[in-house]
Amino acid sequence: MQSALQSLRQEVSAPGLYLDDPADFAGFATDWTRKFSGQPSLVARPRSTEEVAALLAACQRHRIPVVPQGGNTGMVGGSVPRGGEVVISLSRMNRIEALDKVAGTVQVQAGVVLQQLNDALAADHLFFPVDLGGRGSCQIGGMIATNAGGLRVLRYGHVRDSLRGIEAVLADGTVVSNLNKLKKNNTGLDLKHLFVGSEGILGIITRAVFEIVPKPPSVETALLALTDRKQLPDLLQAARAAFRGLSSLEFVVRPAVDLLREVDPAVREPFDKVYPLYAVIEEETGTGPVAREEFAERLEALTQNGIIADAIVAESEAQTRELWGYRERPPEAITKTGLTHKFDVTVPQGEIPKFLDDVERLASRFPGFRIFLYGHLGDGNVHVNVVQGKMLAREAFYAAEKELSDEIYGQVSALAGSISAEHGIGIMKRDYLGHSRSAAEIAMMRRIKNALDPLGIMNPGVIFAAQK
Ligand code: FAD
Ligand code: MLT
Ligand code: ZN
Repeated sequence: MQSALQSLRQEVSAPGLYLDDPADFAGFATDWTRKFSGQPSLVARPRSTEEVAALLAACQRHRIPVVPQGGNTGMVGGSVPRGGEVVISLSRMNRIEALDKVAGTVQVQAGVVLQQLNDALAADHLFFPVDLGGRGSCQIGGMIATNAGGLRVLRYGHVRDSLRGIEAVLADGTVVSNLNKLKKNNTGLDLKHLFVGSEGILGIITRAVFEIVPKPPSVETALLALTDRKQLPDLLQAARAAFRGLSSLEFVVRPAVDLLREVDPAVREPFDKVYPLYAVIEEETGTGPVAREEFAERLEALTQNGIIADAIVAESEAQTRELWGYRERPPEAITKTGLTHKFDVTVPQGEIPKFLDDVERLASRFPGFRIFLYGHLGDGNVHVNVVQGKMLAREAFYAAEKELSDEIYGQVSALAGSISAEHGIGIMKRDYLGHSRSAAEIAMMRRIKNALDPLGIMNPGVIFAAQK
């Protein structure tokens, strides 16, 4: 391997392309969950598509396995080197290249960070509507490679739904570029979709064109209190009917709020009493006091119908951020608390209350484990976090992984749900892919992988086990 790496460095060089000091590798060695890690043999940070192409062609020539890496906020172990692979980080390919206000598109390099994109678009009252808590770090390439969803899927869809064009480099260094801006372009197989959700196993995404939308004139946000989780399906149905500009509907079960307050004592108790469950609702509305009054009236109707017990309407930017914090900040509080078994699943929305009961019952069988539940109510996407308690050893915690996974994915399958709503398969879920995909589908995925990456250098072991 050392001589292959030496050849790579001789054949492909540019100022600053490689990190020379292994001490600098730490940030590339583990992902956000801290559950997955490994030492890269080398870290390359190309600045252009041409450099990515030269790197991949040389890696293929020398049979060097590669892990593409974006912001490293992934939650399934797909972005970390596990067996001494070369990490190719897109972080220096961070240019917003072209904004077409008439077409309503933006072309970006893959290493642009989500927040960076939306900050830039804000000057023109535009925005890229896929939004998620990792916005300050996650990159466009990583978001495409995982088909990220997030907080506004019920209105704007996943990344896939905004994607117009893509440029990617295959394992042999071939650049496949179709930076299409057109809304309508039915010209054979739409190859960009191969890369959506591909998690780095087919090639490296280097550029993309996205559809962007005008910023809504005004957005109203409220935190809702519920007394019973059985009301979640009714809340979804009522909100869809009454809030025409509904852009987000999220839920968080009380223990996650307790944890947030435990980790950050400055977090206030939101209502004058404790409720077992909360929801965040967001609606795009017209401007002015009347719009807010009408929003509040719609919430009042939910109270009258007994669906919610109370509501706080945000009256300022700061309060909006505070209310969103009850739903957005628990993931960070969880990583500060302990190791976590994370399950990102979809179940039919009507089954959410029963599913929450079932997973809580399951977790209670494991002494010293804590469970935190939240998710995207509009999409039936539940995030189950089973967290290591203070007194529990790392080994004992990890020993439960298989039993928990078997049970939870079994429950999800029985409900005709999906074992991955939005985080992808990575290495974490590859043994369970068969719960959500048929044997014929998996075989077809492998044929595509083998056709585009015959030597298996691209992110080996991700989505399915590497072939020997
Ligand atoms: P990475 O973690 O670096 O990589 C993810 C995968 O993509 C890996 O398999 C990697 O090999 C591959 N990859 C990365 N870049 C490229 C590229 N250029 N070409 C080919 N393959 C590539 N996700 C959601 O969907 N919804 C959420 O609501 C959500 N909330 C989050 C909240 C927080 C606080 C955090 C930390 C994460 C959250 N995520 C969420 C996880 C989510 O998957 C990522 O934030 C994002 O999609 C990954 O982007 P990244 O650049 O960090 O990719
Ligand atoms: C979220 O919705 O908050 C994210 O997907 C992160 C998580 O699952 O913890
Ligand atoms: Zn999520």
